[in-house]
Amino acid sequence: MTVLVTGGLGFVGSHFVWAAADAGLRVVVLDDQSAAGRPRLPDAVEVVVGCVGDAERVADLLARHRPEAIVHFAGKIEVGESVRNPGLYFDVNFVRALRLLDAAVAAGVESFVFSSTAAVYGEPRAVPIPETARTEPINPYGASKLAFEHALAGYSAAHGLRWCAPRYFNAAGARPDGTLVEAHDPETHLIPLVVDAGLGRRGPISIFGDDYDTPDGTCIRDYVHVCDLADAHLRALERLAAGETIGPVNLGTGRGSSVREVIDAAGDVLGAPVPHGVAARRAGDPTALVADARAAAERLGWRPRRSDLATIVEDAVRSRRN
Ligand code: UFG
Repeated sequence: MTVLVTGGLGFVGSHFVWAAADAGLRVVVLDDQSAAGRPRLPDAVEVVVGCVGDAERVADLLARHRPEAIVHFAGKIEVGESVRNPGLYFDVNFVRALRLLDAAVAAGVESFVFSSTAAVYGEPRAVPIPETARTEPINPYGASKLAFEHALAGYSAAHGLRWCAPRYFNAAGARPDGTLVEAHDPETHLIPLVVDAGLGRRGPISIFGDDYDTPDGTCIRDYVHVCDLADAHLRALERLAAGETIGPVNLGTGRGSSVREVIDAAGDVLGAPVPHGVAARRAGDPTALVADARAAAERLGWRPRRSDLATIVEDAVRSRRN
């Protein structure tokens, strides 16, 4: 199978490219090189530099490579930035993605996998969150991702395109061989920041609020290993190729960890406590986000293998030491 992977130079995208190449898929990457860093990809993978909204270039790529499937990772991911600049988020995550989708349908691409997010749920009424929970995003990031899920449903009904939208909870970790690393600029994600604080590469980590209604007062998230995410995408591609359509599916573990638990886990791996302090709450942070992950198990046969907190942190430490 040939797969066009957009955003294949990003954190989740690059992990998927390796997993797909390891599984014997032929992979072509389309990426605008806007992510921090330049990951090493398998030699056989052609990387085309360009934007998913460039209709001519995408049509040319699809005509040349004739992929059966597109896995669309390219997008903007910063919640705070989306609040300050909603136009950028709707343009990149919706308008440009729609150009890609039009090109895909015109070229007869059969399957489409789209990186979505738990941010589509907004502030959940209850956790764990099933896919049937109300989708009420509280920022343009989540809204732009949800809008594109709706577009996929419409295109599927009208044109027969088969699709899956994995909704990631908190992607973390790295390939255990240390070849890839989570890199964002600026880095705002908890685990890379905690690891860097523990390695003495930055000052103490700030806990954004310790007065939440949780057992230790800090926010709870469902951290899921990026290699497990990559595996779920491969399973989705298999199902779509077999003629099924999946729709939205949560990718999380069903277990949450608090910010303090992450800091403690990093201290255990590093052999010394990670310096930290308590700061004010960060605007827009829900108290707890935990997936009901049963649909991924039932529909994709997916079970996370490396997503226990200790393994995630060990892999993150190894990759950042490299
Ligand atoms: N946190 C801190 N200190 C920091 C950084 C983060 O206490 O220096 C806390 C946050 O307040 C939050 C938790 O650590 O409670 C996790 O924060 P991240 O920034 O790592 O991740 P988020 O949960 O905010 O966001 C992630 C993705 C989003 C996605 C969201 C939805 O980055 O793209 O999950 O599940 F929308």
